[in-house]
Amino acid sequence: MAVFVCEDGKYFQIDTKKSTYLIGVAPGGFLGHMYYGEKLRLDGGVRYDDLSYLLGEPLTDRHKVNFEDSFPWEYGMPGYGDFREHCLEIEAGEGKESLEFCYAGYELLPEKPDLQGLPALFGEDGETLVIRLRERKLPVTVELVYSVFEEEDAIVKSVRVRNEGDAACHLTRALTSQVEFPPGDYDLITLHGAWGREREPYRRGIGWGEQSISSIRGVSSHQANPFMAVARRDADEEKGIVYGMNFVYSGNFLAGTQTSPSGYVRAVMGIHPYQFRWKLEAGECFVTPEAVHIFSDEGIGGMSRRFHDLYRGHLIRSPYRDKERPVLINNWEATYFDFDTEKLWDIAERAGECGIEMLVMDDGWFGHREDDTSSLGDWTPNEEKLPGGLKRLVDGVKERGLSFGIWMEPEMVSPDSDLYREHPDWIIGQAGRDTSKSREQYVLDFSRREVRDEIYRRICRVLESADISYVKWDMNRALTNVPEGEVYHRYVLGVYDLQNRLTTDFPDLLLENCSSGGGRFDPGMLYYSPQIWCSDDTDAIERLRIQRGTAMVYPLSTMGAHVSDCPNHATGRTVPFASRGDVALAGTFGYELDVTAIAEEERQAIRTQIEDYRKYHRLISQGDYYRLPSQAEGRDYDCYMVVSRDKSEALVSFVRTAVRLCCPGERIYLRGLSEEKSYRLSDRDAVLPGSVLMRAGLEVEGAECEYQSKLIYLREQADS
Ligand code: DGJ
Repeated sequence: MAVFVCEDGKYFQIDTKKSTYLIGVAPGGFLGHMYYGEKLRLDGGVRYDDLSYLLGEPLTDRHKVNFEDSFPWEYGMPGYGDFREHCLEIEAGEGKESLEFCYAGYELLPEKPDLQGLPALFGEDGETLVIRLRERKLPVTVELVYSVFEEEDAIVKSVRVRNEGDAACHLTRALTSQVEFPPGDYDLITLHGAWGREREPYRRGIGWGEQSISSIRGVSSHQANPFMAVARRDADEEKGIVYGMNFVYSGNFLAGTQTSPSGYVRAVMGIHPYQFRWKLEAGECFVTPEAVHIFSDEGIGGMSRRFHDLYRGHLIRSPYRDKERPVLINNWEATYFDFDTEKLWDIAERAGECGIEMLVMDDGWFGHREDDTSSLGDWTPNEEKLPGGLKRLVDGVKERGLSFGIWMEPEMVSPDSDLYREHPDWIIGQAGRDTSKSREQYVLDFSRREVRDEIYRRICRVLESADISYVKWDMNRALTNVPEGEVYHRYVLGVYDLQNRLTTDFPDLLLENCSSGGGRFDPGMLYYSPQIWCSDDTDAIERLRIQRGTAMVYPLSTMGAHVSDCPNHATGRTVPFASRGDVALAGTFGYELDVTAIAEEERQAIRTQIEDYRKYHRLISQGDYYRLPSQAEGRDYDCYMVVSRDKSEALVSFVRTAVRLCCPGERIYLRGLSEEKSYRLSDRDAVLPGSVLMRAGLEVEGAECEYQSKLIYLREQADS
């Protein structure tokens, strides 16, 4: 049991393995947040009256505004005196109404309910509490839905707003989650970036006023990931209390904190209100996307590991979740748009000799596309490049022993395409205004069923025309000129609808999402695809930072990572081939280079790297991930390790990122090993107790030169 209803609904207690979350009903029916943190041993014996101080000063008629202003609301509403960042706004006539939702009952569900076309966590866990609130004047109810994943210390929230009247109203803001943290010293951790520089962690103190991150680009974005953590100031990588929040959504979002004059820190997360105006007809219900809350008493590292466990166990649905993914080679950086069937066969031939298992044909195979200025939407093979079409190409690739994958960008259309000439009105835009182009393309209006249906027909035609086992679903521009109303959200629902159809109708298909690199790396996408292309920056040294930031929230098994050519096409840097392999091992492993043009010794190195991948794949994709101090902490290297659940084996990955002479010796202190076990180290003739490796540390040898790397495998010594 994870949910306790105390004193018949006076307060609610949600327990995970290590945390407690308390919600109370104050006199007058106001729903307040009482507590979120380390587990409380309440044992059902503490009376509401004895805990009611957690809800602050009680309401007096004379001081209603003061009450509203300082009450720790569970779901804040504007109008009566809650002046802080709030969750809900409703227009039901002339304009926005003052809202006063009060407690109207609860329900306990043994399982987590579905979320009407939205990605959602699932699993046998998932006991669910639904608290119902009713507005004093409007015939509108709000249901706050809390599902619990005890083992992962996770509470997953969503909200249903229901119009129970007989006239329509409009929602102009419907956030998913709010938490009130009592006065204290907190830091905010978020992930920022840009194209090619995704998900850099940024930690700063939470001060007075508001601090928020957001996207109004129509996608979750390169610039800000829909994640934030509120960390106690004394929390670090290994210890201390950290509250992680992640939005299971791939479109516009808002996540932020606001400190009230009394020192309470309110954290909110949900769909960004920009251009959001949702018509709720009589009887209709709006369901918000989910927000995941993780509690960690083991610092930021503990938060990451809980997110990884939760997503591996309860979010990723693909049958590939636990399978060894095929080692693929993608032709993008090998050829860009300049390829034909013969060239792809050559690549496949050479790749097969090295042990690579799948060839992915990237952008440029359709319509008359020779560069990025045409043909999106015309998903028929370019006969000049691919004579005999896809079937001939794919059969030839299979004869060479590889399976085949294909790139598509279903959400887009080029102005120079037959699709656009036929349906110029299918793009997202505002009446009477030009729509801005980006990468010489427009965004198809996926909020419209007929647009999605036609694109889906075209995708199916491609997939049925040859034996295709993998799709890279790309998305290369932000949404602009979006009309106010429902388009932004319906667009995201439309993308989910198509990815749902695709993965249902082609259950064996391996889907990899991508958005100009990692512009849509979010839990919403992971529900449909077990892997996402992490970044267009394939420089191994840059990737270290990107992958480390990504792993703050997302499991290593989800990060598309490839070995690419050097000098790197984006940064000009040259990194040893072996180090490029070691870096790509931290994700779904593959190649992105012209294997016909590299030296024989590099082809030999590919064979060795694939052997490493086979050896370590299970450990890396399923194990517990530990960040060790690295560049961000002032070291001249990047270092992380993965430990198996039973702590019988571990892998340390070390990459030298800079070289300074005559520096003091470097010792790394391993984490996550067993105190009781001893481990044999792969790089030396030594067996050392876990306690020594963690407390006395380990000197890394053989990675002294710039960009050299080292993998150290640790295996439990059986007779230890
Ligand atoms: C952006 C992706 O991130 C790249 O990997 C590649 O597929 C290009 N698009 C193709 O246009």
